Amino acid sequence: MINIEKTSGLPIEVTPEYKLKFNPPLREFPLTFARKFSEMVPVLLNPNITAPAEETYFVYRGIHMPEHQQILRAHHLTYDITVIPSFMLGEEFNHTVGHYHAPKPGTNNIAHPEVYEVLHGEALVLLQKMDQNFEKTINVLAVKARTGEKVIYPPNYGHIMINIGSEVLVVANWLSTDYKPLYEPVTQRHGMAYYPVKDEVEGFKFVPNGNYKDTPALRMIDTKFMTLFAVTANRPMYLTGTDDPQSLDFLNNPEKYAVELSGITS
Ligand SMILES: [Fe+2]
Repeated sequence: MINIEKTSGLPIEVTPEYKLKFNPPLREFPLTFARKFSEMVPVLLNPNITAPAEETYFVYRGIHMPEHQQILRAHHLTYDITVIPSFMLGEEFNHTVGHYHAPKPGTNNIAHPEVYEVLHGEALVLLQKMDQNFEKTINVLAVKARTGEKVIYPPNYGHIMINIGSEVLVVANWLSTDYKPLYEPVTQRHGMAYYPVKDEVEGFKFVPNGNYKDTPALRMIDTKFMTLFAVTANRPMYLTGTDDPQSLDFLNNPEKYAVELSGITS
């Protein structure tokens, strides 16, 4: 069992079967979904590999202390946890399937951003932006994050969360409940613009996906570019978000934070 109370601010443990155990005063939250290996096959570098397991990661949505239910509902916010075992998918590290978010209605094509926090393990996030028709790749970024670090996914960036460590990766996210995921632009091209692959010297490397043309070079960025947002402070982001839901306003109203959000990628 791995106790993630210190890093999450919530009485939660992770079982050896990669499930969450909720301790009082938290109630039991059901597993929202387990990602099947068969669903990952279309986005893998090598679709012919042997499955490391039938299910490759686990998602729990809408976790909250009883006293926070009303405030989170009123602010259209969800706190979710994803558990990503340190499986290898062939040469590739285990990762989420990848998606974009649909533009927020009433904005000039601005999608909902997202913020992640590493609760246990070693994460690598791949972020990519394409034009509005998903034809041309404009920018590809990657961020490494360790336990306690937060990563903001800027609006309109497709994303995958990658476990590059030898232990299970447990991550939390805050997200608008009004967001809509878009999976097709990633599955159509059999994954993101780069595949995260093991490298004996560097630990990891990115292999370009041939289904994208004229892909720009990938640039590593640092979590320090995200510190304009209070939620990235050195404390569990569940606590920051529930103490002051206004600090998460950028998740629902990204159009008001264009300057701060563009600072992450420039
Ligand atoms: Fe997302």
